[in-house]
Amino acid sequence: MNASREPIAVIGTGYVGLVTAAGFAELGNEVYCVDVDAEKVARLRRGEIPIYEPGLAESVAASGDRLHFSTELAPALEHARLLFVAVGTPPTYSGDADLSAVHAVVDAMPANAGHALVMKSTVPVGTGQAIRRILDERGKSEFSYVSCPEFLKEGSALADFRDPDRVVVGDVGDWAGDAVVELYSPLNAPLLRTDIPSAEMIKLAANAFLATKISFINEIANVCEETGADVLEVAKGMGLDRRIGKHFLAPGIGFGGSCFPKDVAALKQLAGNSGYHFQLLTSVIEVNELQKRRVIGKLQKHLGSLVGKRVALLGLAFKPNTDDMREASSLVLAARLQADGARVRAFDPVAEDEARKLMPGVEFADSAIDAVRDVDAIVIVTEWPEFVALDWAQAASVTSGRVVIDGRNCLDSSSVRAAGFVYEGIGR
Ligand SMILES: NC(=O)c1ccc[n+]([C@@H]2O[C@H](COP(=O)([O-])OP(=O)(O)OC[C@H]3O[C@@H](n4cnc5c(N)ncnc54)[C@H](O)[C@@H]3O)[C@@H](O)[C@H]2O)c1
Repeated sequence: MNASREPIAVIGTGYVGLVTAAGFAELGNEVYCVDVDAEKVARLRRGEIPIYEPGLAESVAASGDRLHFSTELAPALEHARLLFVAVGTPPTYSGDADLSAVHAVVDAMPANAGHALVMKSTVPVGTGQAIRRILDERGKSEFSYVSCPEFLKEGSALADFRDPDRVVVGDVGDWAGDAVVELYSPLNAPLLRTDIPSAEMIKLAANAFLATKISFINEIANVCEETGADVLEVAKGMGLDRRIGKHFLAPGIGFGGSCFPKDVAALKQLAGNSGYHFQLLTSVIEVNELQKRRVIGKLQKHLGSLVGKRVALLGLAFKPNTDDMREASSLVLAARLQADGARVRAFDPVAEDEARKLMPGVEFADSAIDAVRDVDAIVIVTEWPEFVALDWAQAASVTSGRVVIDGRNCLDSSSVRAAGFVYEGIGR
């Protein structure tokens, strides 16, 4: 153990919690992890990693006994002052964030002095102040509170922990904020220390801006299709402008995942609840919903009615290198295709277990080649590297159809066409 590093606790061992725990364990901290999911904790204790995230299994194994897993809060409270909260904050039907897991954590806190809640979960602006009020009302005024929003990207989450663009610490200037800053100091990342509401807003605003960039380039792609421009050339030309930047200008079939859709909706709701109509975000959400469905129109253009047609979906997770199916475009697409009478075969390298629960009526294949066997059309939904490298001549030899819709513009269109397919991307 690194004696100079302080032990910490992480409450909630999902994508964010487990990566945070593994990252701090790499830095030498003892990390006491707590989760209400007893099966998940049992698996973690056996050394199994419940999610797919590159490098995470190796990192957890290398840290060995610095990582402790329990369903009980007691060991965390005994050993650690800083309690990182990384529980889920999914959307409710109204679009507001569901804070019930966060409040369950707050409710479980004892009246002891000397601890701090460090909020990693993405929460609406004002949550920190509301929790402060609750703690004070319940005689837990000695508890400190820090907002430390998380910006990691699934698929490169550990790399993002090790080399973050910035660390944001929102606090009231007490020991807990100092301790969180100290904890992150070995990473030498740009630090923004600010007040709690601003830290909360930074997270929501950053995700809403990135989502806006995606919906913007998707609309440009749609106009390119009408006007004969190639959106990839357009995005390249736009991205060379340093004021714009090249990131998040990749047109496709819409954003998904556990963060963008919910955080954009939560910010829109937050604004609405405060009496402000955030018109731009309403459009960002609407454009994204329509974008997921544009593939249907493209298929109908080539196949006519979809009744009885067989369609292969390659890639189901919301993006490559993750097994996360939350808000994945594949879910909307499969449901729309089935509603229009098509039969759907699907393949994903890692997300099949989760996808099976969410995609009734879909037939699952063992490989990409197996998925495209005897189908009328192939749709690239997630740009996994193995689809980019697919042998299109082999695909052509096993499938009956000749249509490839590249929903992520990730394929080399000339090799797909050379294999005899009709290729259609997004905005090209
Ligand atoms: N996934 C991402 O890419 C990402 C990135 C940045 C921020 N975030 C935010 O981080 C938070 C967590 O996201 P996630 O994707 O890791 O969620 P997740 O669903 O993968 O994990 C949440 C974990 O919390 C556990 N949990 C729920 N209630 C609990 C309680 N009372 N005590 C202890 N454990 C409890 C669950 O069992 C689960 O293991 C969310 O607010 C999310 O918006 C996520």
